[in-house]
Amino acid sequence: MRLAATAAAVVVLAACSSEPEDAQQSSTTQSADEQIEATGAPDQMTVVDPSLVTGLAEKTRTEEKGGAQIDVAYPAIPNAAPLTDQLKRSTNREVSDFLDANPGAERIAMSWEVTVTGEDIVGVRLTREETDSRGPRTAHSTYWYDATSGQPAFATELLAGQKQLETLNKLVKEELADQEGVDTASIYPILRLYDSLGFNPRGELVVEFDEGQVAPVDTGRVHAVISAEDVAPLLSELGKRAQEEAQVLTADFALPDTSPSVSPSDSSAGSASPSAAGSSTPSEPPASPSPSGTTYGAVPGVLPVNDDEVDCSAADTKCVALTFDDGPGGGTPHLLDTLAEYDAKATFFVTGGPVREHARIVRREYAEGHEVANHTVKHPDLRTLSTAQIRGELAPVNALVRRETGYSMELMRPPYGATNGTVASVTKDMGLAQIIWSIDTNDWRDRDAGIVADRAVSRAKPGAIILMHDIHSTTIDAVPSIVEQLSQQGYTMVTISELLGDTDPGKRYFKAGD
Ligand code: NI
Repeated sequence: MRLAATAAAVVVLAACSSEPEDAQQSSTTQSADEQIEATGAPDQMTVVDPSLVTGLAEKTRTEEKGGAQIDVAYPAIPNAAPLTDQLKRSTNREVSDFLDANPGAERIAMSWEVTVTGEDIVGVRLTREETDSRGPRTAHSTYWYDATSGQPAFATELLAGQKQLETLNKLVKEELADQEGVDTASIYPILRLYDSLGFNPRGELVVEFDEGQVAPVDTGRVHAVISAEDVAPLLSELGKRAQEEAQVLTADFALPDTSPSVSPSDSSAGSASPSAAGSSTPSEPPASPSPSGTTYGAVPGVLPVNDDEVDCSAADTKCVALTFDDGPGGGTPHLLDTLAEYDAKATFFVTGGPVREHARIVRREYAEGHEVANHTVKHPDLRTLSTAQIRGELAPVNALVRRETGYSMELMRPPYGATNGTVASVTKDMGLAQIIWSIDTNDWRDRDAGIVADRAVSRAKPGAIILMHDIHSTTIDAVPSIVEQLSQQGYTMVTISELLGDTDPGKRYFKAGD
């Protein structure tokens, strides 16, 4: 039906645009008479026929890897090289995370559509089809390019900020509340969930979730359409332009050929060195927790693991880090309720099986400002493993957590605290600091909430890292008392990254100051 709508639009376009040659001449600015109204289904983003985009080419990647077939395609639009680079990074990341996260991976295919072309703006929607031993599922993501800044943008950058994303999240939950199968409690204002936003031809915001993301896979594509009126106050300047331009199609569209950063003549650099736009770091390696190369907070839905309002190095601040290993477990949501009640933050060192079983709890941990960190797939003594085996224990958990939350973890904890030079070298290479602990509650051995609470509280000191496990109900039961007493004693309960500040990959940390 989408094809039909696009085809109809093209027919109308052909009838209206009598002199396409003229349009080609003035490629940088389109006047109103070269535009026609976009048409299409109200629950879908506008689709622009690629033939309307001057010089559009397709990049592909086809190969077989580890028994899985990879078929990736994305567009290369002239004068939008930073967008093409971003699409390459993002598709490569999706492929490697899919393969790492799914031992039964059979095929991943990615295809594309152009959703908006307008003055200084382009929108691209990627469709990802993943097939593993459980069958196929479809996912979507949308990327934007703002030619005025020369930067690619993520879907949530159509919104003015995190608060606006939170408001949108509320509207979406209301809209989906009565929809069968949808678990609205699993919908949080994070980029990984809101990675496909765009406008339909009427200028309404289309929000779409991946199959299986907020409802069972067989529910299919879950989406919400937010009225133009409701969404207007939430949009960034880019979002406003995207909304406007999604309502029209432009013949012989082309972006201006400019190097946006410096003021020298437009023609000097052209697209030769687009990633040098501005002297700021271009979007760096995909492992970066900050996907567009900007700082935390710049992209709505990319959440900081440290709170700007807490400074653990200040003399009058007593920070302590609660850490919970081997989960998530069935009791973890209750633990999260307790932490939220006291505005306490914690760090969760998660393992492979529990992450697969309780993926939405990991999503909640991240969404509520806690830190998620890597505790291996199967919890082995890493000292007994080869370099490749250690990597094989860490990479799948990195991929699983990133697929669920969008977050690239920076910390790991070796099971039993057991580590050696090989573990140090692999974790350094993977960008993960090794976090041990300074206080062991032995909660796995002594299944008594009173004893666990007493140990955690009586031994606490500023800068401490306290080890617990959120797979034991006695530990879950101990937490209200721990959090309450530590609060009374003036402690701020923070994430590891907040406690330690910047950490060095591969290095071991037992407490603050190491
Ligand atoms: Ni453990």
